[in-house]
Amino acid sequence: MHQPHVPPPPDRRNFLTKAASIVIGGALAVVAPVAGLFVLLDPLRRKSQAGTFVKVGSLSSLPAGGAAQKFQVLETKTDVWNVTPNEPVGAVYLQRVGEGKVRALNAKCPHAGCFVNFKPGDAMHYHCPCHNSSFGMDGKILNPNSPSPRALDELPVELRGTEIWVRFQNFRAGVKDREPV
Ligand code: FES
Repeated sequence: MHQPHVPPPPDRRNFLTKAASIVIGGALAVVAPVAGLFVLLDPLRRKSQAGTFVKVGSLSSLPAGGAAQKFQVLETKTDVWNVTPNEPVGAVYLQRVGEGKVRALNAKCPHAGCFVNFKPGDAMHYHCPCHNSSFGMDGKILNPNSPSPRALDELPVELRGTEIWVRFQNFRAGVKDREPV
């Protein structure tokens, strides 16, 4: 026999609606802060190759005669979701300093992080266009009034055949001692 549908009493309907909104609201209250925390901690979960050797160039691309050549440094960044190859992380100047020897200087000025320019000619040197710091080819400060608190940051180099590998690292700007960042 067909039973006519009897709607639940209003009190029961109200109870179910309230219960559902409490459950959904509670879930959102948990999910939103956790998602926010993930975004906040994202840089911590990212890994870069900082401090490891990366291939920067080849011996054949370096000019003879001691002139420096600027190279962009690309690294692979990884986090829990992605592997991102060829991310630009900075630049270096490479210079031949003898048979099978190469010097690498981080191209960022230690004063405030502008990129320095290589000045060729009889008195080759590096010059920072932002506040006029100048540096010798070995990276040392040339101008005693230079606002840069330290020399250009030299980086370890490894020659693998004709390939030039550099242990790339950025350092904090504006301080006397080198602090990796
Ligand atoms: S950033 Fe180079 S001198 Fe200021």
